[in-house]
Amino acid sequence: MAILLCLLPFLGLLKLSGAAPTATYSDLEARALSCPASNGAVYSNGGRTYAIECSTDRYGGDMPAPNGQYTGTFEACIESCSTRSGCMLANYVASSTACYLKSVANSKSANSAVWGAVALAGSSSTSTSPKATSRPSSPQVTATPVVAVGKRGLAYNDATLTGLFAGQDSKVSWAYNWDSASYGASSALNYVPLLHDNGASHTSVWNANVGKAISTGSNHAMSFNEPDQCGTNSGGACMQDIKTVVKSYKDWIQPLVNSYPGKLKLGAPAVTNGVLDTSTGSPMGLPWLQQFIGNCTGCQIDFICIHWYDSPSNVAYFKSHVQDAYAAGGNRPVWITEFAPTSGTDAQKQGFLKQVLPWLDSLDYVERYAYQMTAKNVLVSADGTGLTPLGQVYNTI
Ligand SMILES: *[C@@H]1O[C@H](CO)[C@@H](O)[C@H](O)[C@H]1NC(C)=O
Repeated sequence: MAILLCLLPFLGLLKLSGAAPTATYSDLEARALSCPASNGAVYSNGGRTYAIECSTDRYGGDMPAPNGQYTGTFEACIESCSTRSGCMLANYVASSTACYLKSVANSKSANSAVWGAVALAGSSSTSTSPKATSRPSSPQVTATPVVAVGKRGLAYNDATLTGLFAGQDSKVSWAYNWDSASYGASSALNYVPLLHDNGASHTSVWNANVGKAISTGSNHAMSFNEPDQCGTNSGGACMQDIKTVVKSYKDWIQPLVNSYPGKLKLGAPAVTNGVLDTSTGSPMGLPWLQQFIGNCTGCQIDFICIHWYDSPSNVAYFKSHVQDAYAAGGNRPVWITEFAPTSGTDAQKQGFLKQVLPWLDSLDYVERYAYQMTAKNVLVSADGTGLTPLGQVYNTI
């Protein structure tokens, strides 16, 4: 993932924030940054530029220790980001002067206590010599991948295809494979581990694999894949019994809060866009999700995951389903981790994407999405060497 394209979301945020950049500071100037006055400013330091965002936290993505140091000033916090390899974001808690350096800039959440500086240009580590006076005592660490994680991602089985989306013009920035190890997906993409079901082949490696994923920049973990889906050849985990799924969540997902404190946001099981399994009378889709959330007392559930399949002409249903999911999930952020038209020509599918992608990108509560799927003859050409026209639309529009 090239740096340039990573800038676009942030430049967009500046424009959308209502406060167009009001000032340009340079590290040669003595002028102090402060909030709310500096909101929207572009600040230069150590050969890099940062977008200043007041009252904004971006959860997760914390760089390895030492981190959370007390730097005294916001400027010193930004300086420490400029001199630490792989740093993309400095979050500063003004009341305590604590400074948190992050290798990824995740979605924004409002927090009046936190000031942020998001790296814009020259976003890998600084190429200029840092000032000796304010060089942090921390050792330089090996860079974790520098990825500003946006919404658009890859759902893949064949990791060798993921690099096709890592070019400069790609809007794709994350990937998952219904598994907890990436099997060599492009390091330019932020990998998200998932626990497919409660079978031993998955659970026996889960905790360790999540730890490995965190070490390469992951800050989310997803839970079970379509436990509401029991059809043959569906790939669904078929764990319809809510109580069993709740127990499995408490056995395998919830404990991550203690294994990796402060490192992860946790996703609810991904559900289909069904409503009722008529053969068993069991709920599916959003009704299933609501019952799961209702029964999972004491569970940390930070975001919900939904799947959607229907006709390419049914854009209205896609939109209403995403909105209904937001409500069903108790206004938690929504990830659409599988979606695709199940019929139609390639042109119709492209038309579908051209309508829904800008809409998804415009919604604050949609955090991430992944088209189904990154596979040959879908987003990737039959010979695996390039993108289909549909893949090109997904990659860049
Ligand atoms: C808990 O799950 C059961 C199904 O097993 C369901 O009938 C009930 O409504 C759920 N409770 C809540 C609070 O959602």
